[in-house]
Amino acid sequence: MDLKDSKILVIGGAGFIGSFVVSELLKEEVAEVVVYDNFARGEKDYLIEQLKDKRCSIFPIGGDIRDLDILDAAVRGKDFVVSLAAMWLLHCKDYPRTAFEVNIAGTFNVLEACVKHKVKKLIWSSSASVYGDAVELPMTENHPFNNKNFYGATKLAGEAMATAFNDRYGLPVVGLRYMNVYGPHQDQTAAYTGVVPIMLNKIEANEPPVINGDGSQAYDFIYVEDVARCNVDALKSDVNFGMYNVGTEVQTSIKELCDLILELKKSDLKVIYKPYSADDARSLVQNRIGSRVKAENELGFLYKYSLREGLQKLIDWRIATGTDKA
Ligand SMILES: NC(=O)c1ccc[n+]([C@@H]2O[C@H](COP(=O)([O-])OP(=O)(O)OC[C@H]3O[C@@H](n4cnc5c(N)ncnc54)[C@H](O)[C@@H]3O)[C@@H](O)[C@H]2O)c1
Repeated sequence: MDLKDSKILVIGGAGFIGSFVVSELLKEEVAEVVVYDNFARGEKDYLIEQLKDKRCSIFPIGGDIRDLDILDAAVRGKDFVVSLAAMWLLHCKDYPRTAFEVNIAGTFNVLEACVKHKVKKLIWSSSASVYGDAVELPMTENHPFNNKNFYGATKLAGEAMATAFNDRYGLPVVGLRYMNVYGPHQDQTAAYTGVVPIMLNKIEANEPPVINGDGSQAYDFIYVEDVARCNVDALKSDVNFGMYNVGTEVQTSIKELCDLILELKKSDLKVIYKPYSADDARSLVQNRIGSRVKAENELGFLYKYSLREGLQKLIDWRIATGTDKA
């Protein structure tokens, strides 16, 4: 797909990952990047630099994917849509009906509007949560769907609907199953990835970092700029349908993550280990590493930042913005 002179709508574009997707799109010769967001969690501040570019704007009359008329007006005339809007894992746990209304019905609205306005391709944010706990590593895209929580259920429903819209109406759509994304502006209430800002907050306050469990639980951490770049790669690729892992295929235990952060922060604080709460012990995924073969072969996506490099970039950003003192 040629992005030259194209008009692109980024739904959820004021969020953690979405704001980086906007930056990546502005590196291309696009005509227009419009952010559509209800600011349930995103911030206008995340877009300060991007909005200095005349090609970038926020849709002026609102931005909720549950509002059919406003969504319709925003999608009209766009060549491409990237949709990242969703309620997050812990919110879905506490408010399953909102999870349904935003993540499932809202995604249906986005798919329908894309068909109506003949959008050339939709890139939609799924999640590695669809897999639940790994039965084999690395998880390929054919790994069984062992998810048990509401958030993952909404992502499975979104993928199923995207598949049906593609089959019934020929809507080009690519779903991206992100592993554990970390980087600037990340919300620390995230279930798995929140561990990075939480550890940094503790260490920067000169308090011992806390690990729940024995620290052997291991995940696939990917820097947010890489994830944003994958969205653009998916848009530019010739692929018109598919679901893809977005990860590094590198397994890092929480203990290793903590040791690396302590090393980068030149800290000799001692880690405190705490037992999991009964609920976390029952529900948290313990192992998750995604194969990157399919995304590499079909989307041409290669991650750029190792965990060490990504964490260093995050630490530098926290110092430059004063977030380390917050
Ligand atoms: N952060 C991760 O590690 C991770 C991992 C896997 C998948 N994902 C998925 O990636 C996407 C982006 O995640 P994120 O971490 O940037 O989250 P985020 O909460 O920072 O971004 C989501 C954005 O969508 C907006 N939004 C929420 N409800 C909306 C609605 N009804 N209408 C319009 N906008 C709405 C929010 O205000 C926010 O700006 C989500 O779909 C998420 O499920 C994230």
